[in-house]
Amino acid sequence: MFTIITGSQFGDEGKGKIVDLMSGDYDLVVRFQGGNNAGHTVKVGEDVYKLHLIPSGFLLDSRVLIGPGTVVDPEVLAEEMDMLAEGGIELSPEKMGVDAKTSIIMPYHIELDVMREAKRTEKIGTTGRGIGFAYIDKVARDEIRMADLTSKDKLLQRLSELAPSKEAAIRELDGNPGIVMDEQLIDKYVKLGERLAPYITDVSYEVNKALDDGKSVLAEGAQGTHLDVIHGTQKFVTSSCTIAGSACANIGVGPTKVDSVLGIVKAYITRVGEGPMPTELFDDAGKQIQTVGGEVGTTTGRSRRCGWFDLPLLKKAIYLNGYTSIALTKLDVLSNLDPIKVCVSYELGGEVLDYPPEDAADLAACKPVYEDLPGWENDLTAVKSFDDLPQAAKDYVLYLEDKMGVPVDYISVGPAREQTFRK
Ligand code: GDP
Ligand code: IMO
Ligand code: MG
Repeated sequence: MFTIITGSQFGDEGKGKIVDLMSGDYDLVVRFQGGNNAGHTVKVGEDVYKLHLIPSGFLLDSRVLIGPGTVVDPEVLAEEMDMLAEGGIELSPEKMGVDAKTSIIMPYHIELDVMREAKRTEKIGTTGRGIGFAYIDKVARDEIRMADLTSKDKLLQRLSELAPSKEAAIRELDGNPGIVMDEQLIDKYVKLGERLAPYITDVSYEVNKALDDGKSVLAEGAQGTHLDVIHGTQKFVTSSCTIAGSACANIGVGPTKVDSVLGIVKAYITRVGEGPMPTELFDDAGKQIQTVGGEVGTTTGRSRRCGWFDLPLLKKAIYLNGYTSIALTKLDVLSNLDPIKVCVSYELGGEVLDYPPEDAADLAACKPVYEDLPGWENDLTAVKSFDDLPQAAKDYVLYLEDKMGVPVDYISVGPAREQTFRK
């Protein structure tokens, strides 16, 4: 069985939580794109894990893999491994693997990301983790790969070939070109390479072999559909393909192997960083959602922008991902809001649109058209089944399910693993 999970909105839909929950049924859990711009929170009992790179399936019995389409900051990976080890979770090479072809985020990628963003008059609001510049180098065939880190000679040879152009790029942005060939940094990366060497694997082979042997694989997306580098709200996007088809291309597994695609959908919408968001709220309802939902970025600590559910954007996400079912998260956060609004279409230049326009500036100019639904006052965080939801909450779920045309499989009413039930 091969299942792909992706975020349907602008990220932070609760992918980590749902992956943790589902991982019990999967032999392999694979991150296929992005890097430590992601922040996935998993809560089990009193333990809270905030992860940026290690796939969220590490707690149960699955083997977790970091695929060749990701970009890896080896220092962050090592820190996450140490953090888990402190809590008694040792990730041995039997438990975790990293593909040999994974692109490494080098210190100069981070420097370039931060300097470039500082120089932009119209900001993107990147996470400053070097993601975009690491992907530029992958496509330009100038990347350092995981396998290059395992020997100082290999790394030095590769770096000396790349150094002139990297130093020039940093100089042009008024950064510090000295970091490209800094001896201490190189030694640090060689040590990280030595530590990670036993984890190096061929993810595509492992996934295909597992599927051939009748095992099950879960692909864990990062970011969200509308942050996709091709189909998102350019230029306010991340630098990888975040949609479901990307899992096949990035892992190296044929689309004929996919059995199901689960979309993670927040009961409202949030966005971190810049870019259009037609239903963004600037009123008390927005503040309430922000506070009750704890909508603060896991990676950068920025407040997430909050808005009402946006059906046109969700319809596009359903087209782009081909969702076979949906997990609706954070329903509990909408308690004590009345009415609850749902954006069913946009008005743009005198026209009514029920599908987002292609251009980000047009999307930014769209005025949401809302339908009002009755709210509920009850606290939902202890609810254990669909039948036990208050009628207005049931109606909200059924309304969204009808409008989306995709079955809601899971409903989540709190951050903990236990606060999820099948519809
Ligand atoms: P991801 O990036 O998609 O994995 O999502 P994040 O982990 O960045 O953000 C989701 C946040 O909401 C995390 O802090 C989760 O612990 C929390 N969360 C997930 N599901 C629910 C839910 O149903 N209700 C509430 N109140 N919090 C949730
Ligand atoms: P998860 O996996 C929300 C946003 C950044 C910025 C844009 C580009 O936790 O859902 P980048 O550093 O990727 O070049 O920044 O993308 N962004 C995210 N927003 N959740 C994420 O990941 C994100 N990863 C990147 O805020 O607007
Ligand atoms: Mg997140």
